[in-house]
Amino acid sequence: MKTFRRALFIRSTAIVLTCASVSLIIVSGCTTDDEPAELDNVPPPTARSGVKPYSGEESFQNRCAVCHGQQADGTATGPPLVNRLYEIGHHPNFSFHNAVNKGVIAHHWNFGDMPPIPNVKPAEINAIICHVRDLQRAEGIAAGEPC
Ligand code: HEC
Repeated sequence: MKTFRRALFIRSTAIVLTCASVSLIIVSGCTTDDEPAELDNVPPPTARSGVKPYSGEESFQNRCAVCHGQQADGTATGPPLVNRLYEIGHHPNFSFHNAVNKGVIAHHWNFGDMPPIPNVKPAEINAIICHVRDLQRAEGIAAGEPC
């Protein structure tokens, strides 16, 4: 009986110690010196909520490439977005949100109107914009800072 009690005591002490060291690791992990810098890198809500963040390239291929081309270089049904006309100064990011949400009445080209593209969440549009801006930047078109 005595040995049993001692074994029990040793075991519970071990558990307490393990818990203490685990929480110490957690606590020290949370209080790093460079916390302010980390705030700059707050992931988009999709990442924080555990949902896979959008791939701008994948979304662009699925939703936009049919008209704007796989490299955003245009097709018979839509203009190239890799074009100086769409540089960030002329067509800021909100014009992409507007185009997707409301559609575009043809005013620059002769492809006809762009219809609204349904069910594209703002975060997905942002990811698409990042991708298009990358393609633009690679061609020397003013595209702002990389996302
Ligand atoms: C059915 C074909 C079609 C699809 C699909 C399409 N577009 Fe377009 N888009 C067009 C056409 C045509 C224009 C050019 C209208 C014009 O003459 O100015 C255009 C213009 C635009 C413009 C310029 C808007 C402006 O203010 O002038 C943006 C930005 C754009 N599209 C983004 C997108 C994005 C992002 C997607 C995918 C989510 C997409 N488009 C899908 C046909 C399409």
